[in-house]
Amino acid sequence: MLDDALFNKFRRLIHQTTGISLSEEKKELLTARLSKRLRACGLSSFADYYRLITSDQAGEEFTHFLNSISTNYTSFFREQAHFSALTDRLLPSLDPLLAGGRRPLCVWSAACSSGEEPYTLAMVLNEYYQGRKGAFQILATDISTRVLDIARRGVYAKEQVATVPQAYLKRYFMRGVGRSAGYVKVKPILQENIRFQRFNLMDRFPWRDEMHIIFCRNVMIYFDRSTQEKLVNKFYDCLVQNGYLVIGHSESISSLDHRFRPVEATIFRK
Ligand SMILES: C[S@@+](CC[C@H](N)C(=O)[O-])C[C@H]1O[C@@H](n2cnc3c(N)ncnc32)[C@H](O)[C@@H]1O
Repeated sequence: MLDDALFNKFRRLIHQTTGISLSEEKKELLTARLSKRLRACGLSSFADYYRLITSDQAGEEFTHFLNSISTNYTSFFREQAHFSALTDRLLPSLDPLLAGGRRPLCVWSAACSSGEEPYTLAMVLNEYYQGRKGAFQILATDISTRVLDIARRGVYAKEQVATVPQAYLKRYFMRGVGRSAGYVKVKPILQENIRFQRFNLMDRFPWRDEMHIIFCRNVMIYFDRSTQEKLVNKFYDCLVQNGYLVIGHSESISSLDHRFRPVEATIFRK
């Protein structure tokens, strides 16, 4: 088990680089996750591992370190109400900003994990715009290269797509055969509008007044109040006027200092 002093050093490092705040109770979890990296590196002490990663924050092991500390749970059509709101209210209200369809709708899945959220968005948007080429583009980012690799591959076990409506499964996924039986693969039509990119939400945003909708769900719960506040204000700046921020159902930004207008429980408008 990590001793308290070293646990605190790792905690500080994690907070500084990712914004993630780990409570005291996470010591066992962090110990388990880092133990795997220790074995992979052939090291016998956490102190050696700390020295290794802090000596080269641009190095390969630092990427593995970040991959191992993030919690990546996600699912297709997670928090379904957001996708109904998208079709019924958000998208129609944004139509006037898209120059009669000459401009693409820009959506950002800001902590996309293994791809279920951006692929769900792509299905819903493809249905709404009836397959019109160039109608929308999705930027899907995450800090973890491990989950981004899964997202780019677009291969999921049958159980993972259990929440995808049957009609969408037929339209947007290919069924695996032979050695791939029990798996499905996302069709190119769904992938062609998504750009997967590694991006740390703590970094300066290169986008300004560009996004129409940002989905940032189930990641701010890992951040402390001041990190959340900075992030929400960065999101505000990269949205177009009247653009939307969608956060997770268990999250709240009501105690933060921000300029968004609340429209629904977890949906905010610039
Ligand atoms: C629990 S998943 C949420 C996935 C999806 N948004 C959803 O609601 O199902 C949280 C994701 O946030 C990512 N994450 C954590 N800190 C981050 C940061 N500083 N920058 C970018 N992504 C981060 C993790 O790697 C993880 O994939």
